[in-house]
Amino acid sequence: MEMKSDRETNQYAADLSSIKEARERIKSFIHNTPVFFSDSLDLMAGRRLLFKCECFQKGGAFKFRGASNAVLSLDEKQASKGVVTHSSGNHAAALALAAKMRGIPAYIVVPNNAPKCKVQNVIRYGGQVIWCEPMFDSRRITADKVQQDTGAVLIHPYNDGRIISGQGTISLELLEQFPEIDTIIVPISGGGLISGISLAAKSINPSIRVLAAEPVGANDAALSKENGRLITLPQTDTIADGLRAFLGDQTWPVVRDFVDAIITVEEKEIIHAMKLCYEILKVAVEPSAAVGLAAVLSDSFQQNSLWNECKHVAIILSGGNVDLDVLWEALYKKT
Ligand SMILES: Cc1ncc(COP(=O)(O)O)c(C=O)c1O
Repeated sequence: MEMKSDRETNQYAADLSSIKEARERIKSFIHNTPVFFSDSLDLMAGRRLLFKCECFQKGGAFKFRGASNAVLSLDEKQASKGVVTHSSGNHAAALALAAKMRGIPAYIVVPNNAPKCKVQNVIRYGGQVIWCEPMFDSRRITADKVQQDTGAVLIHPYNDGRIISGQGTISLELLEQFPEIDTIIVPISGGGLISGISLAAKSINPSIRVLAAEPVGANDAALSKENGRLITLPQTDTIADGLRAFLGDQTWPVVRDFVDAIITVEEKEIIHAMKLCYEILKVAVEPSAAVGLAAVLSDSFQQNSLWNECKHVAIILSGGNVDLDVLWEALYKKT
């Protein structure tokens, strides 16, 4: 018997219709984020760059799109017990904010090495912080226990169709704002952001290219693509604290089938791109959000003739939650 691929059977965690539904559900709660340009950066990149400023989204990152879609999708009975997640960063704060908006509790399991500013955001939005050890197992076990004790619904940061659909609303917005975009460059970690973006963008315009940008020190997605199977790493090492997670079983099939290439960037390139965002665009991004610009400026992108046709390149500036103390120290050590 002939086996059909996921693409033929359309077996993905989200699709254009779930993404359009997400947009209807969340549109009155989220910001329609602006797109910025810079002639100076265009000159450096040799093409038109369009910066989608998700760092101006509520909660300071795109994560509020997925989190609010997930929370608003719950029925009254499910919602009454609240929501729980394990996250070191932007998803945690976004979920706390979405839960606050719906008037339900949010239990956030946070590893004790999480960036201070991201934990402060969780607390500011009324989330209940439960500390755990940084290891993934400790996060999962603690979240399971909270779920059992409270009956709260687990909302995974990326391996969830509701989250992927929410993040995909970026493409709907972006391609309405600038239909001439031929390429979108997206930071990748667990893959929820790029899954939503690529599913929506390629349904609207199949010829659009979707490229992932990933730190060399957390290159599980690049290795997975190269080897054609899901690969995780024993450890990661990058200043981009939002990009240390690994693809999941819901996001990997989308990345495998819809992402055109993964461009890996060095730490120095991330820091340089981040400085350019501050100095030229005047936009405060966190390191994880600077990898897209780092990718388009990298030698591997500039010298690859495959990308010569990328003339109108959207770059997702995915978040702006930066711990300044840690950042200064890192800049000092790494540059
Ligand atoms: C600022 C920022 N950019 C990009 C990502 C990557 O998103 P995903 O895990 O959905 O790939 C994250 C994830 O936490 C993030 O916080």
